[in-house]
Amino acid sequence: MSPPSWPSPSPTDTFVQRRRRLQARLDRPALLVSGLSRPRNFAGNRYPFRAESHFLYFVGRSLEGAALLVEPARSVLFAPEPDPEEELWSGAMPSFAELADACGVEVRSIDDFEAPPETLTVPAQDAESAAFQSDLVGRDIFAGGGAELDEADARLADALIELRLVHDAGAIAQLRQAAAATAWAHRAGLAATRAGIREAAVRAQMEAAFVAFGYTASYNPIVTVHGEVLHAHRHDGELAAGDLLLADVGAETPEGWAGDVTRTWPVSGKFSATQRALYEVVLEAQSAAIAAVRPSVRYAEVHHVAALSVVRGLVELGILKGDPAELTARGAAALFFPHGVGHLLGLDVHDMEDLGDRAGYAPGRSRSTRPGERYLRLDRDLAPGMAVTIEPGYYRIARILERAEEVGDLEPHLDRRVLAQFDDVRGIRIEDDVLVTKDGAEVLTASIPKTAADVEAAVGAAT
Ligand code: GLY
Ligand code: MN
Ligand code: MN
Repeated sequence: MSPPSWPSPSPTDTFVQRRRRLQARLDRPALLVSGLSRPRNFAGNRYPFRAESHFLYFVGRSLEGAALLVEPARSVLFAPEPDPEEELWSGAMPSFAELADACGVEVRSIDDFEAPPETLTVPAQDAESAAFQSDLVGRDIFAGGGAELDEADARLADALIELRLVHDAGAIAQLRQAAAATAWAHRAGLAATRAGIREAAVRAQMEAAFVAFGYTASYNPIVTVHGEVLHAHRHDGELAAGDLLLADVGAETPEGWAGDVTRTWPVSGKFSATQRALYEVVLEAQSAAIAAVRPSVRYAEVHHVAALSVVRGLVELGILKGDPAELTARGAAALFFPHGVGHLLGLDVHDMEDLGDRAGYAPGRSRSTRPGERYLRLDRDLAPGMAVTIEPGYYRIARILERAEEVGDLEPHLDRRVLAQFDDVRGIRIEDDVLVTKDGAEVLTASIPKTAADVEAAVGAAT
């Protein structure tokens, strides 16, 4: 595997075309704000700024304190004027002429912005940015309120979803770059693993692998020997020879496009027989789910394929007893695989989740409340150009398995004596980034070791 190249920006025309496509879908003006950086502990010490994704999609740059006005006939970028005081600390800001040239759009001062009547918008994620947005549009915008839009803003959201759901060539090029940087990080994590070090040491190597090439993390990395904690964010655990290490780490390009990959590997470089058996169950479920990805297939069906495969594997190992199809219909997969098989991937790691289920669920569909389905973030018919993750898992989670209200009438189908033999497995997840193609699917992250043998060979090996 070779290292990723330094990220290359999308051609200016990508953004010109995207803005035109949005303009054609609007009958009223719309404002998409970039947002403001947040102070960490005092005004001069701030979290790194990352613009709102709807802004990035049409502008491609994390310009702080900016907003894009899109009207049916034109688009205008409103940006902060270069400020000598700010430039003293942070370096030169682009002139309006430079920005206009780079972004292919008319640029004016944000100080001169006046919202046209009835301007639509979708809410920023944090309170400071939402306050900035409220000032610009002249009405109260509630941070993170994208799941509860009024009818007019919802029309804007639907137009954004229509564009962002199916990736154009520029987006796919960005996703490929994110995937390559993510792959490099996983190689580095596998290579760095050995007993006696802490999770933090592996995490550091994984992040270093993409930071060194100009990428950032697309979400808080999960690098843990407690894979049963689905989104574990502690990294102080020590790696013991018999542990499995779960690493869910993704890179993000400077334009904001995400990778999202999980691998699980044995710290010693050798799976135990029980670890290997369960690893094969998850891998088989992932392969079956990926094989099910193609245009027109409903994503809930892909989830079902993975769930059935996990149950079948657990029946074969004797952990579950009964008919796999019947057990799956009764929700048995959720005892060990409580989350959905994946989600949309794009500018956000869970793409457009700021809009609630509006992007993930097709009109007329809504989230089931059943165990195993209530965390399914996507149920659309797949189409070429959509990107999704496929990430089944197996987890031994006490708060599920030790609660009668969770296990319910599946108890007689659970062989706890056999389950106890698999005590050296707490959590396994295998996750790849998958692009739906004209006639099937392409795994963008296929270069990352995944078979049990390939994973074993990569632990402790030089990159
Ligand atoms: N990395 C978060 C997820 O896989 O959904
Ligand atoms: Mn994911
Ligand atoms: Mn992930």
